[in-house]
Amino acid sequence: MSNQHTTKLSDYTSYPFLIPKIYLDFDIRSDLVEVESLMIIKPKLKESASLILKGNQIKLIAISINGNELNSKEYRLSSNELVIYNTPISEFDLQIIAQIDPFRNTSLEGLYLSAGMLTTQCEAEGFRSICFHPDRPDILSKYTVRIEADKDLYPVLLSNGNKKNSSNLRNNKHRHEILWDDPFPKPSYLFALVAGKLKIVSDKYFTNTGRLIDVKIYVESGDEKYTHHAIKSLKKAMKWDEDVYGLEYDLDEYKIVAVRHFNMGAMENKGLNIFNSKLVLADSETATDDELERIESVIAHEYFHNWTGNRITCRDWFQLSLKEGLTVFRDQSFTADLHSYGIKRIEDVSFLRNFQFAEDKGPTSHAVKPKEYIAIDNFYTTTIYEKGAELIRMLDLLLGKEKFMRGINFYIKNFDGSAATTEDFIESLIKGAYLDEQNCPFDITKFLNWYYEPGTPKVYINQQWDSKKSILNVSFEQKLPSDKNNENIEMIIPILYSCYSRREGGEPLAENELFILDSNKKNLQIRSLTPEKDSPVLSIFRRFSSPVQWESNLSIDDYLFLALNDNDYFSRWDSGQVLMREIIKNRIKEKCNYSLENRFINALKEIIKSLEINDSLFLSTLLTIPGFAELESLFEIVDPTNIYKQSLNFQVLIGNEIQQELRVLSQNILVNVDKQWPMGKGERKLLGTIWAYLALAEDGNIKRTCVEAVNSSSMTIARAALAALKPLDSPETVEASNLFYDLWKENPVVLDSWFSYEASRPHSNGINVVEKLLAHSKFDWKAPNAIRAVIGGFSKNIESFHSLDGQGYLFMAEKIIEVDKINPITASRIVKIFSKWKTYIEKNKEEMYKSILKINQANISSNTREVVELILK
Ligand code: BES
Ligand code: ZN
Repeated sequence: MSNQHTTKLSDYTSYPFLIPKIYLDFDIRSDLVEVESLMIIKPKLKESASLILKGNQIKLIAISINGNELNSKEYRLSSNELVIYNTPISEFDLQIIAQIDPFRNTSLEGLYLSAGMLTTQCEAEGFRSICFHPDRPDILSKYTVRIEADKDLYPVLLSNGNKKNSSNLRNNKHRHEILWDDPFPKPSYLFALVAGKLKIVSDKYFTNTGRLIDVKIYVESGDEKYTHHAIKSLKKAMKWDEDVYGLEYDLDEYKIVAVRHFNMGAMENKGLNIFNSKLVLADSETATDDELERIESVIAHEYFHNWTGNRITCRDWFQLSLKEGLTVFRDQSFTADLHSYGIKRIEDVSFLRNFQFAEDKGPTSHAVKPKEYIAIDNFYTTTIYEKGAELIRMLDLLLGKEKFMRGINFYIKNFDGSAATTEDFIESLIKGAYLDEQNCPFDITKFLNWYYEPGTPKVYINQQWDSKKSILNVSFEQKLPSDKNNENIEMIIPILYSCYSRREGGEPLAENELFILDSNKKNLQIRSLTPEKDSPVLSIFRRFSSPVQWESNLSIDDYLFLALNDNDYFSRWDSGQVLMREIIKNRIKEKCNYSLENRFINALKEIIKSLEINDSLFLSTLLTIPGFAELESLFEIVDPTNIYKQSLNFQVLIGNEIQQELRVLSQNILVNVDKQWPMGKGERKLLGTIWAYLALAEDGNIKRTCVEAVNSSSMTIARAALAALKPLDSPETVEASNLFYDLWKENPVVLDSWFSYEASRPHSNGINVVEKLLAHSKFDWKAPNAIRAVIGGFSKNIESFHSLDGQGYLFMAEKIIEVDKINPITASRIVKIFSKWKTYIEKNKEEMYKSILKINQANISSNTREVVELILK
């Protein structure tokens, strides 16, 4: 075990000082940046105390208090802290002059260089690499920032808030300065600064109250033409937040900067969002429909943070889901409103099951509100984000839309301008919704267990049809994986259900009713008003009303019925998924259930006939098999290569059996395929699905069709073609890939998708291919997107990565150690691909273990060490 520092929620104490105002002065020079900070500090206590500031890789030049320079006995400087002794007991000015070196900073945290431009990333703890500061989210200050730099190298100088003035320096005509002022108090993690040669694309937005907001996107020269989608998305998000939540933007300008080297997707810095360029630069020729929709939702997400995150922030990082879970819920709702609620729900559930459920089952499992952490960067997880969003969604369902909105508005009013906890949020939401907590129809403390307990709860359902009384008796039981001592920890589990009559034209016995499972065991009775001969069909967890796994005694007939008839998008899709999981599971166990497979294939044919082109997007999701991670989670002992092979075989079977239907379908949808996004996206998705199945069915023409489609003016079509050819590993696959490379070699964002394609597709000699990609002249070791494309891509090349000689694992371990040297945040995310080692069959397990040990024995960052030690535990 290492002696790394653990931060505990129970250790929280409030900071003994307030810092209402900060003036920052940045002097950008050729080899360093001098940062002068002036903080107005108000002691909370009446006695003199030590002021503890964080600092990381900062060279201290001078400190003074109220204009008097301190001598070296009046403070202590260590590698990560600056402690100033005996500070004044009344308000004082603290001035610090310091220097930083952004030019050699490869971590992409703090201030750093990306393609000649200087840019920042402060969340979660990057501000301490820029200047000495407490750097904790409960210290809110108003910032004024002056930036001075060379005019030719850095013509654009940006920071948060509104621009005050800009001018050339009087004594040096090559240099200029700009002053920015942000009137809203904010935590240091929302600070941002950008300096560089950037082009601006501007637009205007009028709020519902008629205020004019200047919208500006900053990009590298040549990328201006790719900004329109981002601008449109932003304006849609601004309008939606006003219309749905009544929240208006509060500054005069909204700026977004696109940066090539960025650890995350995007960052919500107040008034100055910084985005990974792949989430800004896009049109239908360079990005797929899914990517366009992702960009729309990320732009919205960062915009929505202006209220849920910025105006109201987190007291400490244990409250991270307060802003992230809520904001993910908001961006999911936005996308659902703009496109299709049903489809969006299926996509979100599928993501949750493949990634969050897998996290819950593995060594890095944690509660939405963890109790401790070592590196906070490791806690930006799918549990904090997507499970966190599911908790908000349950509240929305439990309270009902109107009360939920009242509660949210009450919370926002009460906590505006402050730093809150998740408990503050829940309490405030309930108060606002019901006016008095006593009126709340469910037990709030039981609901809070969702925040405190790790793991995916399990619900067991047993239904019994009483044909004499025409009553369906359903018993429910809940079980938490963390409840190892059978303490019967109880959660509030909302279950939305319907109950269908099996008779043709029969009335449903229940339609979208809410049952709240609020104790370990609880029963439900569903009565039929008219006598029913056959047992009815129960549709449960409609809309995926709680983030749980469930087991029931529903029959294959029930699932087939629901896959054909359920009018809830999620439940209908899920019924098909249950059947597919069952089929693949049997195949993996070498117990093919042919009758089930036949009945399923016949159901698919019926679905195709009934849905046809009315709902291409839905049809495509119904035809898609469960994800790889979801399949892995079905087994106690996992043989990854076999799962890959068997799921491919099942797809070959589907392709062979329904090829006639698919060919007819593909003719019928062609008319819509060329329409502009979002129109035609369903047809394009379906066409991709059809191509993939026909390619597996060895359709004679399809390979040529796909090679030619790489040239398409629609990136969705081109990538669908590549995807269809991918598992074949045929000469056409190589031809198509080369063609794609030639078309896009000058566009780094698009080229990343090629890097990922090459690294992940089945090759006989995967490691050699990946070595070549890493040495490719277009590969940039400093860009996390490129690293994730190649190294992350390789982990999806199942046969090479999981090869039994362990070479794939070893190769991966070596690369992760290399990445860790330059960028710990990216390395510690990638290292999670080793999380499942204990679940693998003996040979894979042994080899993977060796590789993890190799990483553990290397000289790695504390970020990566935290994850590796959890994995080994
Ligand atoms: N605040 C985060 C970005 C962030 C996370 C910065 C961790 C530093 C450390 C931002 O709001 C965010 O959540 N971004 C997501 C995308 C979003 C749509 C879920 C991201 O970057 O992946
Ligand atoms: Zn966020």
